[in-house]
Amino acid sequence: MAESMKGLKRTHRCGELSAANVGEKVTIMGWVQKNRNKGGLVFTDVRDRSGIVQVVCEEGKTDAALLEKAASLRSEYAVAIVGEVARRSGAVNDKLATGEIEVVPSELRILSESLTPPFPIEENSKTKEEVRLKYRYLDLRRPDLQRNLMMKSQVMTLTRQFFAEEGFLEVETPVLGKTTPEGARDYLVPSRVHPGCFYGLPQSPQLYKQLLMCSGFDRYIQIARCFRDEDLRADRQPEFTQIDMELSFVDVDDVIDVNESYLAKLFKEVLDVDVQLPIQRMTWQEAMDRFGSDKPDLRYGMELTDVTEVVKGCGFGVFTGAIENGGTVRGINAKGQGAMPRKKIDKLTAFVKDYGAKGLAYIALQEDGSVKSSFAKFMSEEEMSALISAMGGKAGDLLLFAADRNKVVWDSLGALRVELAKELELVDKDEFRFVWITEFPLLEWSEEQERYVAMHHPFTMPMEEDLPLIDSEPGKVRAKAYDIVLNGNEIGGGSVRIHQNDIQEKMFEVLGFTKEQAYSQFGFLLDAFKYGVPPHAGLAYGLDRLVMLMAKQDSIRDVIAFPKIKDASCLMTEAPTSADQKQLDELGLEVKADTEE
Ligand code: AMO
Ligand code: AMP
Repeated sequence: MAESMKGLKRTHRCGELSAANVGEKVTIMGWVQKNRNKGGLVFTDVRDRSGIVQVVCEEGKTDAALLEKAASLRSEYAVAIVGEVARRSGAVNDKLATGEIEVVPSELRILSESLTPPFPIEENSKTKEEVRLKYRYLDLRRPDLQRNLMMKSQVMTLTRQFFAEEGFLEVETPVLGKTTPEGARDYLVPSRVHPGCFYGLPQSPQLYKQLLMCSGFDRYIQIARCFRDEDLRADRQPEFTQIDMELSFVDVDDVIDVNESYLAKLFKEVLDVDVQLPIQRMTWQEAMDRFGSDKPDLRYGMELTDVTEVVKGCGFGVFTGAIENGGTVRGINAKGQGAMPRKKIDKLTAFVKDYGAKGLAYIALQEDGSVKSSFAKFMSEEEMSALISAMGGKAGDLLLFAADRNKVVWDSLGALRVELAKELELVDKDEFRFVWITEFPLLEWSEEQERYVAMHHPFTMPMEEDLPLIDSEPGKVRAKAYDIVLNGNEIGGGSVRIHQNDIQEKMFEVLGFTKEQAYSQFGFLLDAFKYGVPPHAGLAYGLDRLVMLMAKQDSIRDVIAFPKIKDASCLMTEAPTSADQKQLDELGLEVKADTEE
């Protein structure tokens, strides 16, 4: 039985009612959170996105038909209630914002009934995520997800406001276009009109925003949807949103300055958190040396120590072998963990192997002054004590070492540091620690492609003082690129762009593009640059990641209304699905038999 809401108009959201409304006649509309019938006394919790309010019907006081109707309510029925706000007759509920009051109804309408939901609509759901994602429209009724999406909306509003006030223009760029290289695989959309041709969905608006600078828009902002076909993780979705910007006639500091003001305003208004300005800056080299990561979490210590020089001539072949092969030996000191059981150390060893390490050598300094170590037998006493002292080791500490190529040592110890901090609960969850990482390498050697690839993208400007190295030692050239990192997460990145054709051509050459290849992919950009291109620079935040951290969530799925799972499918709509033959024919496509699901 679904009743009409004709003649009724909502006056308040449930959570807005308070003692200030006592005596007022109100109309609320929402969902039945819970209905308790205590024989002649019916308590109904009514919920909307603002919160919950209690509605009470009582035999003798409430009209008999209304009481009966109230008793028939079930969870998730949509209802409209007209009534008077009264002070609670029973105990005040401190847990509820509306806990001092209740609504005494004079009219109740059931706007629609509900099946029993497959899981309770409640905070901190214990229900498996797969089930919740299948019924995402119900999952989204839960207060935690509603709060997350409300926060995201607030962030978007404030972002538009802030940048508009700073003179940025919001300009839309195409979704059906030519793909932009950001290092992931492209999503392709087949063209019906041009059979055999494909649009690429943008991995970012990078090329378009640079063209907008050529066109004179000066300061551009867009909250832009981006698409990347890459392996998904907790902080990655195949489609996600960037707060994307580009500025003309600027250098690194200009981009950083406006963004620091933005972050300070955003965190103050949304979370009442004061961001200390200026935000700390750290070069990429320092971040790698100290934290083994280009997105260091600075909320705790446990930094890496380079002990290569200390163990150079020692008796432990694992160390000296790595050094002879051009690698390094580094360690971290897990303070007070000297008593860690062997089994647990073995687990950590297995953990670092996922990052390419061949092992994890350890020294466990016991409280009684004795030493347990996986390699002490290869070392002289002097060598051991030199190593322990280089690590700042004290009785009760656990020293962990990796020896390998720099990349492997950084990756494994960097990840180990994060893992240990989590396990040992060294992280202050209420702290927001920002850092700019600057001076990234311009290029990165790709083992797979056996050539240099751009670490950021091919339009990133090298640091002027490193330009002479570009032919002789391209790996040593640093870029005018920067990332903004929050609590160990890369929330945004950007760079100053190349606006000189000769440097851009050199860059393509180093990346192994022929002139023809560069032109066929980016000809329009290179041509545009021949007509008075302004020096320009920009940055893009991952909006979902930013809000995930602000809302203290572990996954960006929790701040995206309809996210996809690991295999890039949607459990609710079951996308992607196969296309019917007619559609394929129109597009001139044929699906290979062995690839059909
Ligand atoms: P970049 O590739 O670093 O730079 O992307 C910018 C930010 O977008 C977020 N991000 C993602 N978020 C969720 N899911 C993903 N799959 C995903 N991939 C990236 C990250 C990242 O910091 N055009 C350049 C920016 C520029 O140079 O101006 C760009 O896209 O938070
Ligand atoms: P092994 O000589 O292989 O028995 O290793 C002795 C110790 O060194 C063990 O604790 C291994 O986990 C560790 N180990 C092996 N390879 C490495 C490496 N590349 N870096 C650090 N420790 C290693």
